[in-house]
Amino acid sequence: MILLDGKSLSQKIKHDIKYQVDSLKSNGKRPPHLVAILIGENPASQTYVTAKKKSCEEIGFDSTVIKFPVTISQNKLINEIEKINLDDEIDGLIVQLPLPNHIDPSIVISTICYKKDVDGFHPINLGNMMLQQPCYFPATPMGIMSLIENYNIETNGKNCLIIGRSNIVGTPLSVLLSRNSKYANCTVTLAHSRTKDINLLTKKADIIVMALGIPKFLKNDMIKDSVVIIDVGINRIKSDKSKSGWTLVGDVDFQSVKDKCSYITPVPGGVGPMTIISLLRNTLLSYKRVIYK
Ligand code: GUN
Repeated sequence: MILLDGKSLSQKIKHDIKYQVDSLKSNGKRPPHLVAILIGENPASQTYVTAKKKSCEEIGFDSTVIKFPVTISQNKLINEIEKINLDDEIDGLIVQLPLPNHIDPSIVISTICYKKDVDGFHPINLGNMMLQQPCYFPATPMGIMSLIENYNIETNGKNCLIIGRSNIVGTPLSVLLSRNSKYANCTVTLAHSRTKDINLLTKKADIIVMALGIPKFLKNDMIKDSVVIIDVGINRIKSDKSKSGWTLVGDVDFQSVKDKCSYITPVPGGVGPMTIISLLRNTLLSYKRVIYK
């Protein structure tokens, strides 16, 4: 079994971006600037936004986290986004999801200027992605594609099962993996909560992407030999062994499958760091006006 080491690949990409940022700064230019809006006290969202800010600092980007209480109105949030849209010194804007129930995420995402939508969630970016036009790819699917490409994983004609149909992972990834291109030429099945006989599908798959949100769901007896496993799950479960009282596990029972699969992403250190680095890559593209002039 070979580990798909997202931590080390993301470090390499970080190094490359930092080099570019250092050279911008030494030429007297401002660095790229990413703004993250964080609403409420969701612990997972706080952890993700802190990690994004830390990565920005490591590579020399400016980063600003704007926090609002869970009671913020949708109108006030929209006004804040519109102000950021007009600020020429901000290249990327993300609103951390999920949002409180009284706020409609599709209205909020559509309010972000598509040129600053480095999460790739805006309908213009998703539409361009579908049509193979220049756009920002959503960060998690983009990070997974980079791992597949970097490890030279064969996708041509392979059966790929994606479990989880969210707008931010499963659905866009199903499009990217079924393209007619060198690193993405799979026959994709997109499974979800209403899928019947999931074990029959997992046993047939050459590549399995788990984005379900159920800790340790995928086990040894559900997979065939030499399958490639990509684990997008980041679940906090209680643990006596850690100081904090909790630990992170994926949607895959790593110990159970590790001797049967050919490649697997660890949790943590697999897809997570690739998601963050993809967001930073998009922010640099925005700064350089590569996708949209
Ligand atoms: N919540 C979970 N993943 C993401 C992500 O990639 N971007 C944003 N904005 N929110 C998320």
